[in-house]
Amino acid sequence: MDTLKNLHIHHIGYLVKNIDKAEAEFVALGYTIINEKCRDDYRKVDIVFLEKEGYCVELISPYAEDSVVSGLMKRFKNSPYHICYETDDYDKCFELLRAQGYVPFDENTPAPAISGRRVQFFTHPKLGMIEILNG
Ligand code: NI
Repeated sequence: MDTLKNLHIHHIGYLVKNIDKAEAEFVALGYTIINEKCRDDYRKVDIVFLEKEGYCVELISPYAEDSVVSGLMKRFKNSPYHICYETDDYDKCFELLRAQGYVPFDENTPAPAISGRRVQFFTHPKLGMIEILNG
């Protein structure tokens, strides 16, 4: 990977207060569940993946007050809040992101809802939050 332009979109992350009710609404809109509800103990959130027409949406809901997204939840309510990009060269990607002004938001940790692959969030002053999924 020579440029960030080579990153591929993996999913859109969507914060929800009640994951079961939100899932039912997405299903009513024609989405298919591709990954049943999974608990992520690192981030204290429940996660469901749905898909429609090639677009993958991740529903994220905090199950504890000290979840990593509890603060975001207060700010955004039910709302999309990140786009996740996939890389097959995490070290190079990290270097390119840093050079472009992205700052790591958390640790590079496993994502139980995505087969334990490692993910890390970054923030950029002009763009907000992105997630990088290590292929
Ligand atoms: Ni995500």
